[in-house]
Amino acid sequence: MCAANIKLEEILGQSLPGRVGATRHIDVALIGASGRVGRRVLELLQTRQRALLASGLCLRLVAVANSRGWLIAREGIAPEQAVERLANEGAAVVGFADAVGRLPQPLVLLDCSASAEVVSHYPHWLAAGIDVVTPNKLGPSADWPLARAISSARAVTGATLRDSTTVGAQLPLLDTLRALEDAGDRVLRFEAVLSGTLSYVLGSLSRGTGLAQAVREAVVLGYAEPHPGRDLSGEDAARKLVILLRALGQDIQLSDVECVPLVDVALLDEPDAPSLLNRLEAADETWRARAAVAQARRERWIYRASFERSDTGRGRARIAPERVPIDHPLARLAPCENALILHSDYYRAAPLHIAGPGAGTDLTAAGVFADLLATARQQAIARTAIEIEDLVEAAA
Ligand SMILES: NC(=O)c1ccc[n+]([C@@H]2O[C@H](COP(=O)([O-])OP(=O)(O)OC[C@H]3O[C@@H](n4cnc5c(N)ncnc54)[C@H](OP(=O)(O)O)[C@@H]3O)[C@@H](O)[C@H]2O)c1
Repeated sequence: MCAANIKLEEILGQSLPGRVGATRHIDVALIGASGRVGRRVLELLQTRQRALLASGLCLRLVAVANSRGWLIAREGIAPEQAVERLANEGAAVVGFADAVGRLPQPLVLLDCSASAEVVSHYPHWLAAGIDVVTPNKLGPSADWPLARAISSARAVTGATLRDSTTVGAQLPLLDTLRALEDAGDRVLRFEAVLSGTLSYVLGSLSRGTGLAQAVREAVVLGYAEPHPGRDLSGEDAARKLVILLRALGQDIQLSDVECVPLVDVALLDEPDAPSLLNRLEAADETWRARAAVAQARRERWIYRASFERSDTGRGRARIAPERVPIDHPLARLAPCENALILHSDYYRAAPLHIAGPGAGTDLTAAGVFADLLATARQQAIARTAIEIEDLVEAAA
């Protein structure tokens, strides 16, 4: 028996029934199981199982889904077989959202898709008491009707939405900002680089590569999505800025962010990725000239997110390609890095710097897994608390 149980038995003056303090089974449903992040999460569910069991936690995969179908198996799905079983046994995609809502709890739903359709079900799941973990930016940065529906559903049931990987992957960005906000800090201003794709592209431009070629390379290296429109339009980084600012208690949505795209949005209006990359050649000369001017002035282009608090408490949120001196901390980042430099009441003496690799499948999946464990442990504690309460009541 573990030391905690012996202590508990001393306090209660009686032996514990089998369930209290025993291994906790927490069920997990994974959406996006066949994607890059989803597959890596499946590997972690498999390889970390033994260590988790030793700490009294058993994560049982009971549902998987992708854009083509879904599979529910209440007895559990071996993570290493999940994608294959989904392909062979999966039901057509319709009906998954309701089926998940009817699964027994405790349950954690992992949304590793980039789907707006999946996000539209968050209010329903959260209202059913299901905790959600996600790297999908579309939920935490949703416009008001959906954002308010998500927060109302959470308030009613106390279900959690953990999204720490939506900005900076595994970097401690959102948790830090939420902790500062909870502790009464007042952020005065910050500047940040939030897009690894655009960092890579602007870095390549400063070394003389053409825009279209730089974007092609970013796609090949996995920094950019196969269709990089959302990166180049600034939408992806603007959504991250919305999520950061909501963590600081700001009432903000995407349309409140002043967003200057890297290239004219008319160029990006092309659904076919290879054609889009060819179209970008139209902006090659403009960016060559800009890069040359910056070099002559000992400056660098960065895609800079910024926030400046106003006297009313609200502030100006902006995302734009901007020139900064080459020795500016945000100009010295490696292509894969994100960074935040923040000035607040608590950080008056010197600003807070958080920087490091801020994307990539391994780091994102590691952050999703950490959020999953935090949620599962919280559920396990809640269950134990209920059982101890029952025990104390029965003993009274
Ligand atoms: N990769 C990174 O470095 C990184 C970093 C930070 C955040 N993220 C975020 O993490 C999420 C996953 O990224 P990823 O790179 O793994 O994407 P991905 O490789 O494109 O995988 C997306 C997964 O979602 C599934 N999917 C799409 N629409 C769906 C729907 N309507 N219902 C159910 N499943 C659906 C896809 O199914 P199919 O297999 O059938 O297509 C696929 O399994 C995204 O939100 C992304 O923005 C990724």
